[in-house]
Amino acid sequence: MSLAETVRSTLDGLDEATLDGLRGRSLLLTSEWSAAELEELLRVARAFELLDRSRIPAALFPNELAYALFFDNSTRTKSSWAGAAARLGSSPVIVDGSSTQVEHGETAEETGAMLGMNAHAMGIRHDLILGEGNRFLRAAKQGIDGYLAATGDERVVPIVNLQCDIDHPTQTLADLLWLKKRFPDGIAGRKIAVSWAYSPSYAKPLSVPQGLITLLTRFGAQVELAHPKGYDLMPETIAQAHEFARASGGSFQVTGEMDQAFQDADVVYPKSWGPFDLMLDRVEANRRRDKEGLKEVEKRALERNAQHTDWICDERRMQLTHQGNALYMHCLPADIGSEVSRGVMEKARLDVGREANGKVYVIMALLAVAKAKALQEQLLALVNG
Ligand code: CP
Repeated sequence: MSLAETVRSTLDGLDEATLDGLRGRSLLLTSEWSAAELEELLRVARAFELLDRSRIPAALFPNELAYALFFDNSTRTKSSWAGAAARLGSSPVIVDGSSTQVEHGETAEETGAMLGMNAHAMGIRHDLILGEGNRFLRAAKQGIDGYLAATGDERVVPIVNLQCDIDHPTQTLADLLWLKKRFPDGIAGRKIAVSWAYSPSYAKPLSVPQGLITLLTRFGAQVELAHPKGYDLMPETIAQAHEFARASGGSFQVTGEMDQAFQDADVVYPKSWGPFDLMLDRVEANRRRDKEGLKEVEKRALERNAQHTDWICDERRMQLTHQGNALYMHCLPADIGSEVSRGVMEKARLDVGREANGKVYVIMALLAVAKAKALQEQLLALVNG
């Protein structure tokens, strides 16, 4: 099948009714979308990838502005947002959250309204403080929606979660896109180990493991979460993972042994996150705007991490996996020599690059399903010239 024929058959597989239901939708948590909607989104993402590889431009939203507000560092997500906006014909506008008036107390709702009055889409990363990130996204959305309604403006401005305290949807959906390529028959029945791993660099957010366990369990995977004592995830995400696994016919379990999670795994996703109690201490220090307190919490988190330097994805552990050959995944950046051995990472270098590359198409799909009328027709028209 030629590339153009593959695009056509991917587009023919889209479901108009599901696409209609996605018009105007923001993505704040994957758990708020149905499995069918997430599958449809990934089909659109795949179509954008194929169009891109066929050098067929998909400038659906010319002369529009796609804002992204970042309250934390980013390499991949920021460049994926910019790449997605540009491919759709829009101009990306990246705003550094620390330079906004939020630092001086301007509320999320006001910020949303002020940026939203100029924007045609808005991505937000607010991932460092438990209990605050997703709440900020929701308040910003209220600000934008309120402004548009009050002014009678029919512009559709979807909000895209570019990582919050609970979830990292563009990452986990890019991960799922990659898994679908590696396992064309689906991930149902596949054992996926989501494991804590040692990091000396910083206390990383909980959103990636939480996002993974609440997404992959929806598609029948056998997800096993491993972490040392004290590195729990938010209890509501654990409860959801159990519930989703029951509903999909998959499974979900938690262990304190990295080796157990790796045993016979088809996929391993070892990455670090911060100790739960210290992540809560960080919330308090942040509320007091106590910069020294925040530094102190970070120091204690790294000392705690250092008690678990043996939690590394190395050649010995990879040998425990299915046929010693599990797919290694990481959202990146990885701490090489700590989270993962140099050898394992070298072997997986191209795989993790391809995993990361899916994010640009996931973001394109999120903006397109939310904003485009008759999307299937428009995309088919691009292929048919
Ligand atoms: N994986 C990920 O979200 O990377 P960035 O932090 O660089 O965006």
